[in-house]
Order: sequence, then structure tokens, then C-alpha cells
Amino acid sequence: TPHLLGIKDLTKEDIELLLSTAKQFKEVLQRPVKKVPSLRDITIVNLFFENSTRTRMSFELAEKRLGADSLNFTSSASSVAKGETLLDTVNNILSMKVDMVVLRHSASGAPHFLAKHIPAAIVNAGDGINEHPTQALLDAFSMLEKKETLEGLKVAIIGDIMHSRVALSNIYLLNKMGAEVMVAGPPTLIPKHIVEAFGIRVTYNVNEALQWCDVANVLRIQLERQNQPLFSSLREYNLAYGIKRSMLEKLNKEIVIMHPGPINRGVELDSDVADGPHSIILNQVENGVAVRMAALYLLSPRTP
Ligand code: CP
Repeated sequence: TPHLLGIKDLTKEDIELLLSTAKQFKEVLQRPVKKVPSLRDITIVNLFFENSTRTRMSFELAEKRLGADSLNFTSSASSVAKGETLLDTVNNILSMKVDMVVLRHSASGAPHFLAKHIPAAIVNAGDGINEHPTQALLDAFSMLEKKETLEGLKVAIIGDIMHSRVALSNIYLLNKMGAEVMVAGPPTLIPKHIVEAFGIRVTYNVNEALQWCDVANVLRIQLERQNQPLFSSLREYNLAYGIKRSMLEKLNKEIVIMHPGPINRGVELDSDVADGPHSIILNQVENGVAVRMAALYLLSPRTP
């Protein structure tokens, strides 16, 4: 069974196919009738063991646009709260003739574990601090709406690299597609092993990253994944590493500002940048539907 567990497992050609299929679905989504019957009679469960707004809504919408039947599962409202295991939960749901599983889980590797034990196609919707492959695909898709190619594109990933599955999936994808990557932020949030493994640029000065890049992908500070504070306060984080309008005005060029959401306004990104002319943040969210339609379509047991 084919799965989408991470960008790590994909080839450049796989990524190109996902992006070109997403482009076709984006055209469908511009029509007055946005639905196609490609996944009619396919049933998909969205299993969310961690909170989500964008990923969850866009998977559900992608399924509806493709004509699939959707089931939505929230762990806190389920029998997981009574102690049922992940595998029992999924096997019980699959026994109701469900074809595909979209999984978000706080444990890195949860979708890889499931893939070894169940016969259905699995799409990773974010696993712990490991990967968020559909986010990296929608980020790439959004960059390509602004820039001709990813080849040679300079992308700065700024902020909490250590806890970010978005950073890791983006680094895998950008590396495979020939983009140049720089990570920037406080030294305590930039793991050396990632910089060394990928041979990417690193700076602790966000102005230097902004000066260097064509695109800045700014990440959320993930307080929920920090056992001990890795910087002194959110206010000090903003002063030292937050992106402010005045910083963009000092550049002698236009750069694209991205953020996967949810934003900590006034921490990693000031509101006049998030809502300003450089920002494509809501375009990213829009593109999430087309990208997830592409992933589900290509992995469906019904697709030839
Ligand atoms: N970008 C993202 O994954 O957002 P959600 O956690 O709201 O899905």
C-alpha cells in the first residue's frame, strides 16, 4: 500500500507529480462547481490526536471536493480517553470499511508504526517533531505561485527549528528540488545535527537571513513542546528574532513572507508583517486544499 509518511521518502519526480496534480485541482477549485467525483465511494477517516485548524479543515474539504465520504475523529472525544490503543482504534474504524487514514499524532513515527500494521493508505498530517509532508508540499506550491522555480531559490526558515516538523519536511523538499536553505533563530532552537546532516546555512541573526533570502518561512514558537524554556521570554524573543515591518523596509528588495500557522502574533511575526503586502500566509492555507486533494487522489486505491 502506498503511503505519504514523509518528504524524506519521496523522489524529486514524486514531488513534481504531487505539485502538478495539485495545480490541476486548484483550477477545479476556481470553478463555480468545485466538486469532482474522483474519490466517490472512497471513505477516509481524519484521525486527529493533536489539535489542528488548517490541516484538519483542509483535509476534510479536500475529501468533500473529491466526492469521498469523510469521518472525523478527535482523540479527546473518543474511547482513547478510556485507554484504547492507537492500533485498536484504527483497526476498529477500518472494520467499518474505511479505505484511507489521515493521521495527526504527537508521537514522531506514529504513522510509520501504523503503516506496518494496517492495510489502508496513510497520509501523515503531522507526527510530533518529525514531518508534516502536506505542509511542505503546500509551501512549495505557494512558493511556485510567486517564483518560477525552486531550483536555486533562497529560502530562510526562521525560528523554532528544533520542534518543527514543518522545518524538517521543508528542508527535505527544498533540498530535493535544488533550492538553497538557511535556518535562522536562537542557537538553543537550532539543532546542530540538522544543520550538519543537510549541510545548510545557519545564522543567529535574522536580519542576515532576511538580507540573504528570496522567501522567509517564519515558524511558530512551539511552547507546548518545550519542557524547559529555551529563551528568556516571548517579549525578548520578539525583540531579538521577531520579524518586524521596519526590518523588511530596510531591505533593498522584496521578499515573500510565509508562516504555516497558527501565528503567535507579536512573537515570531508582527501583525503588520503577517497582514502586510509581503505575506502569502492565507494563500498557503488556500493551497492546502488543492495539495491535499492531490495527495489523497494519488494514494487512493481507486486511482489507476
Ligand atoms: N499549519 C498547520 O499544520 O496548522 P494546524 O495545526 O492548525 O493544522
